[in-house]
Amino acid sequence: MAILSVENATVLFDAPDGGTVSALDRVSVRVEPGSFVVALGSSGCGKTTLLNLMAGFLAPTSGRVTHGDHPVLGPGAERGVVFQNDALLPWLNVIDNVAFGLRLRGMPRKERRERARAMLDLVGLAGFADHQVWQISGGMRQRVGLARALAADPEFLLMDEPLGALDAMTREQMQELLLDLWARTGKGIFLITHGIEEAVLLATRLVIMSPRPGRVTAELDLEFGREAAAETSARRVKSDAAFVSAREQVRDLVFANAQV
Ligand SMILES: Nc1ncnc2c1ncn2[C@@H]1O[C@H](COP(=O)(O)OP(=O)(O)OP(=O)(O)O)[C@@H](O)[C@H]1O
Ligand SMILES: [Mg+2]
Repeated sequence: MAILSVENATVLFDAPDGGTVSALDRVSVRVEPGSFVVALGSSGCGKTTLLNLMAGFLAPTSGRVTHGDHPVLGPGAERGVVFQNDALLPWLNVIDNVAFGLRLRGMPRKERRERARAMLDLVGLAGFADHQVWQISGGMRQRVGLARALAADPEFLLMDEPLGALDAMTREQMQELLLDLWARTGKGIFLITHGIEEAVLLATRLVIMSPRPGRVTAELDLEFGREAAAETSARRVKSDAAFVSAREQVRDLVFANAQV
């Protein structure tokens, strides 16, 4: 299994005033198979830009993005993306949304619906296949987005603040679901969040970023996610002294970067 790697990537955008915005400045991040890499940072520090590089939606101004020995030159089935706004198609029901990518790839209807059903099972939505997307809640919509990304059986899942719009209880349930899926599928995950506690819970590798220019300012290896996946109680792990201390350490690192 190959590593998804961003090496020394700089991304410059044209700014409206005629200048340039340095969205990323010499950023390197590696997502190893089976690892859970979380990017944490304030608004505008280049998190989505970094995900767009990995997804192949954007090429770096300098530096490189590779999957194993190959350069990433565009989107690919081995990298599944879960978007911040769930990006579901409102004219399709739940199962057809999940099967959409498989349909585009020419998979026969019976086979793709079977696959989509299995993915809905995996995210706990077995009974909702025939619902319209406007008939389900925000948390369920995110799970449909996750099932759609999983349908192509990607090696990596790239998620842009997938839990950002959810209420606190649903968010905690979704954190447990993500950990469970990660433990069961062994996929490499890259996830973006603003949430310090969420980052410390989920990450095996935590990447802390700061804005203007977007840089990686600290990196930590953590193990709380593996513990929570084995325990199935994120709440218990979050109340452990070791977790609280790591969370405060990360908070200090994040606020050390905050601009005044
Ligand atoms: N297509 C673009 N053209 C010009 N500037 C851009 C473009 N995309 C992003 N930027 C700028 O690059 C910087 C990083 O943007 P990015 O969307 O990656 O941040 P982010 O960390 O994802 O923020 P948020 O947490 O608010 O989603 C910002 O200053 C943004 O204004
Ligand atoms: Mg963003």
